[in-house]
Amino acid sequence: MMMEQRAAPVDRDLVLAQLDFCREKVDALLPRFRNSFPAPSSEGLAYPAQEENFDWTTSFYSGMLWLLWEHTGDKKYLDALEPHLASFCRRVEEPGNVDTHDLGFLYSLSCGPAVLLREDGRARDCFLKAADYLLARYIPKAGIIQAWGDLNDPANRGRMIIDCLLNLPLLYQASRLTGRGEYRAAAYSHARQAQKYLVRQDDTTFHTFYMDVDTGEPRFGRTAQGYSDSSCWARGQAWGVYGFALSFHHTRDRSFLDTSCRLLDYFLARLPEDGVCYWDLCFTQGDEPRDSSSAAILCCGILELLRHLPLTHPRRGEYEAALHRIMASLARDYTTRDTPRADGLLLHGVYSKPDGIGVDECMIWGDYYYMEALFRLLYGTCAYWI
Ligand code: GLY
Repeated sequence: MMMEQRAAPVDRDLVLAQLDFCREKVDALLPRFRNSFPAPSSEGLAYPAQEENFDWTTSFYSGMLWLLWEHTGDKKYLDALEPHLASFCRRVEEPGNVDTHDLGFLYSLSCGPAVLLREDGRARDCFLKAADYLLARYIPKAGIIQAWGDLNDPANRGRMIIDCLLNLPLLYQASRLTGRGEYRAAAYSHARQAQKYLVRQDDTTFHTFYMDVDTGEPRFGRTAQGYSDSSCWARGQAWGVYGFALSFHHTRDRSFLDTSCRLLDYFLARLPEDGVCYWDLCFTQGDEPRDSSSAAILCCGILELLRHLPLTHPRRGEYEAALHRIMASLARDYTTRDTPRADGLLLHGVYSKPDGIGVDECMIWGDYYYMEALFRLLYGTCAYWI
């Protein structure tokens, strides 16, 4: 039985102070990243600039600008978004860089808010083009969306990954915008297959899983960024908590809510004293690096889950306490408040430990999800995924 952790609630004043800190940090980046993108992870705590819009992470900066525009109403964030949105439009209008399922991350945080919040016509066309490219990656026989690479690449054929759950809102929203059911049907099928094969009996998750695209049969799980094939990569588990809660929101299939809770229970049972996970949940103590970005994603996942759990749910109090404990810990000990040279918002993130990339650095998605969690605490929700 998990102990309920007592934590001082993260109150409105703390959230507002943290959002002020985020705003100051992002404001300092505005001139440098007008026509370029912060790299996925910092180097020596500074984000190198990427000129090309090719990575899976280029929209997290736009996402932060959207959150700041919503929070402050300051037009300078819309001005800063302009060249970024134009780049995202070019990315789908001049194909060459769309062979990835990460179109969801990319368009939910760039063109998506322009559609949802500002009814921007060009952004709508680009958002729907991105949804079409994502839908083209759906393999009906296996019922999944292939994650990476060309659909005929033998190394990636039939491979789904847990992260893809955050790409599904693009499809669910495309169905809502167009009235065409095939986007939603593909997303729903993928979420069910992910639930069946990426989630293990013991409530941990595989990072990736191969399906046989000719027979539709399951093959085997493999890690890409975790400690081992049988371990539980922290960020994957966090994507799972958040992603299944989002699929519940879009489909009302209660089994997704149950899965999200199961993954969360496992996650919370593997937290070290300060509530910020190690990069793989096989570690609960010692000198391995933490991954603050997983903690931030998890908090967004808990916040989405809490929107849907009944007030009488037996674990609700425990989840709320865990959320406050983790957010308080991030705010107190993981922000760059006392590290002025850092570009990011959160210290101590990990991109890929096995590859030695971005270890103990700032992660651009960690920054985004930290801001989203603060935003959700203040405003109750975040429109970009729902
Ligand atoms: N979606 C890739 C990652 O979480 O590193």
